[in-house]
This record gives sequence, C-alpha cells and structure tokens, in this order.
Amino acid sequence: MPETLGVGIIGLHMGAGQLRQIANVPGLKIVAICDLEEDLLKSLQSEFDIPFATTKYEELCAYDEVDIVSVATPDYVHLEMAEAAFASKKHVMMEKPLARTNDECQRMIDAQRAAGTKLMTAHVARFYDVFRKVKGWTQDGTLGETYNLYTSYIHNYENIPGYNRWRFDPELRHQLIGGGCHALDLARWIGGEVAEVSCYSNHFNIPVLETDDHFNVNLKFQSGAVGITVGSFGCAHPYNIDMHVWGTKGSVIATNTLPEAKICLRTIDRNKWLDMPAGAAPKGLAAEFQVLAEAIRNDTEIESDGISGARTVALGWAAIESSREGKPVQPKLDF
Ligand SMILES: NC(=O)c1ccc[n+]([C@@H]2O[C@H](COP(=O)([O-])OP(=O)(O)OC[C@H]3O[C@@H](n4cnc5c(N)ncnc54)[C@H](O)[C@@H]3O)[C@@H](O)[C@H]2O)c1
Repeated sequence: MPETLGVGIIGLHMGAGQLRQIANVPGLKIVAICDLEEDLLKSLQSEFDIPFATTKYEELCAYDEVDIVSVATPDYVHLEMAEAAFASKKHVMMEKPLARTNDECQRMIDAQRAAGTKLMTAHVARFYDVFRKVKGWTQDGTLGETYNLYTSYIHNYENIPGYNRWRFDPELRHQLIGGGCHALDLARWIGGEVAEVSCYSNHFNIPVLETDDHFNVNLKFQSGAVGITVGSFGCAHPYNIDMHVWGTKGSVIATNTLPEAKICLRTIDRNKWLDMPAGAAPKGLAAEFQVLAEAIRNDTEIESDGISGARTVALGWAAIESSREGKPVQPKLDF
C-alpha cells in the first residue's frame, strides 16, 4: 500500500469544496480532476497544480495514479461512475445520497463486492463537531438510553436547481432522498436501524417541483426508540440541520449553524438547559477522507459504508411510499 493515496475528484462544484479541504491533508494527494465545464476544470487544475484533468470520467477512473475516486456529481450519474471506478479496482468516496434508488444502491454494492475495494458514503454531517459530541454522549452513558430523537434538514432549494436543473426533475432527484438523506442518516446514526416508518408530506412552496417539498417522517427504531425527521425544501427558514436527542438521563439540542448545543441532565437539574460549546464551524470533508484512507491502509470497516448509505436511501423511499399510500412501511435493510 503506497504511503500517499492518490485522489481523483469527479464533479467540481461540490468537488471544489473537497479539493480545498483535503489539498493539505497528509497522506492524500489530489492527482486528477474531472468535470464537463472546461473553464472550471482548467482554473482548478492550475490553482491546485493537478497533474491530470479530463472531461471524461472513464479516463479519471482508469488513471493509474488514482487510488480513490471521489464522485461529487449529480445523483443520477453516481452509479455509472462508481461502476467505472470499481471496474478499475479503485476505492470510492461517494457523495450523498449513495444513489437515487434502492435498486441503484444494490447494483453499486454488487460492483464494489466484485472489485473487493472500499466504498464510503460521504455523509458529512456525521463529521460535524457538534453532532460528534452528541453521538459521544449517547455512547458514553451521559444521556442514558435514547428513547426519542428529532433530526431535520431544512434547506430552501428554490434557487439551487443544479447545473442542468437536475434538482427539479423527480427522475433525477427526489428532494427527500437527495437533501433529506442528511437528516435521515443522522437519525439512523443515533437511533440505529428503523423498523417502521410513517410519513405525511405536502407541497406548498416550490411550484416547479412535481413532488412534495415538505416531509414529516415518523420513525420506529428496532431499539424501541421513536423519532421524527423533517425534510423541508421550500421553506422561509434559514438553512440548518438539527439534532435533538432525548435519553433517560438527559436531553440535548444541537444545530449545525449555532455556536452552542444545549444539554439538560437529571444529575444536575432536569429543569435547566446548560450551554455547551459546539466546536468549530462544520467542516468535515477532510475528516471523512481520512476515515476512508485509514480503512484502505488498515483494511478495516467503514461506519458510513455502502450498505449504510443504501439503508439511508431505503429509509427515504419507505417514507415516500408511506406518504403516498397512507400506511406504515418497513424500510429495506438487506443490501
Ligand atoms: N455533502 C454536502 O453537504 C453536499 C453539498 C452539495 C452537494 N452534495 C452532493 O454532491 C453532488 C453534486 O452536487 P452539486 O451541488 O455539486 O451539483 P451541481 O449541479 O451544482 O454541480 C454538478 C457538477 O458536476 C459536473 N458534472 C455533471 N455531469 C458530469 C459528468 N457526466 N462528468 C463530469 N462532470 C459532470 C457538472 O459539470 C457540475 O460542475 C450531489 O450528489 C449532491 O447531493 C453534497
């Protein structure tokens, strides 16, 4: 295993953020980039002094110096790019959502299993300092047993159609899968696997969308805990991601855009919130690449792997089915 792993990034809108955050991470070297926009490609190639730049993702996937292919393109090309990377025995960092549908997720996982390389789903919210603290408090006993949680992804997409308006085409992206997956994934990360989901949704805000743009998802976890995840995409509300966790010993309210989390503990005062510093601004891209690099070097498991990413997509589709059919649905877990 080479000491330094070569990274190739496809898709240079989100991928430019990855470039900036991982450019100086020891043990990683960006060796190739790819995008359809030639001006963007050239300017980033010269700014970051990258040896290889191409408009053809197949060339990047086949490029010898690339060990990790990072796919940061629209959701509807995730599968074909992953398949090309796995055909060349590369490891893959896949932007969220893993893919558009359960079937696409399964095909991606099958391709990864055949290649025998690693697949990580880039659920960056798991790497925000404040949410990592909350996760730690659920694991070290501080909050006791989790019995209720709330997560939300609140992001107005009215003016973010994507480079070819892909975000407004329901075949190319469903809002709850593409955006809501952040909050659904956080719910799974804290609460464990979901046994049943029941969802109500409506459509008051983005007329051009053909699907609903607000979702209240009720979750029943295998552990016995319950929860609600909200995905809202046309709201008059600043962007933020929330995580509230209620445990038998204490409760916590955290938001990725506020400098402090609030915690209430029975042992201190069950009627009082305490302010807790929430850590640095949410930059998790370097941290998530370090996790993938460590897993490649040591051949270890990845928490946010392909199966986990697929289960988050499946949870979203179970919620969509529930809202359409008016009945509870059990999400697919076996990938
Ligand atoms: N983690 C996060 O918080 C976060 C934030 C934004 C986007 N994303 C994810 O990143 C992905 C991309 O989103 P975006 O906002 O950058 O989309 P975008 O539409 O703004 O940009 C897509 C880019 O991909 C390029 N592209 C499209 N098809 C291509 C192809 N066949 N070959 C090479 N390049 C191609 C386009 O030229 C464009 O530069 C999506 O999956 C999205 O869900 C994640």
